[in-house]
Amino acid sequence: MNSSMSEVDNPINNELIQVVYRSRSNTDEAGEKSILEASRRNNPSRSVSGVLVFHAGWFLQVLEGPAHEIRNLLAVIQSDPRHVDFLVLRLTSLDVRYYDEWSMVGVTVDADRFATLITGLMYGRSEVAQLLREFIAGGRWRDADRHVTQAGSQAVAASELLTLV
Ligand SMILES: Cc1cc2nc3c(=O)[nH]c(=O)nc-3n(C[C@H](O)[C@H](O)[C@H](O)COP(=O)(O)O)c2cc1C
Repeated sequence: MNSSMSEVDNPINNELIQVVYRSRSNTDEAGEKSILEASRRNNPSRSVSGVLVFHAGWFLQVLEGPAHEIRNLLAVIQSDPRHVDFLVLRLTSLDVRYYDEWSMVGVTVDADRFATLITGLMYGRSEVAQLLREFIAGGRWRDADRHVTQAGSQAVAASELLTLV
């Protein structure tokens, strides 16, 4: 590789990627609101889109964008004192964004739906990523997908993922 090549010229750094992580909130509602405001202020110029899911003091965030932007942003987010127990669950290349309509959208879900999301997004199940997109866009959670959460083993896996350090 040409050593004079800048970070953005390198095609690998421009590859579209998706990161999914979970963390535990260390802030209150006002703090969460200001996180969303900062995200909406900063993400558009970085071509970053995504979702921040809230459930019972947990964050589950999906970030999509060029690899170098996501890498820089993740370093900032990871050192933010407004959350702890940061754990990346998935990092993958992406052909098409799931959440391109939102520079960052916040959504609160119940325990059942959180279990579906954490396991489905971690394992890259596109139907679960789409379910979340439709829920945000339309406010409805397709019942057909609730069977996903009724598999006991998956619910256990989700709670274990949450409590891993
Ligand atoms: C759970 C969580 C998610 C965050 N997501 C984003 C994000 O998507 N984009 C962003 O710019 N900042 C995000 N932040 C905030 C950053 O850590 C940082 O405070 C912010 O980028 C600073 O923005 P500023 O320099 O405009 O003040 C997040 C913070 C937390 C705790």
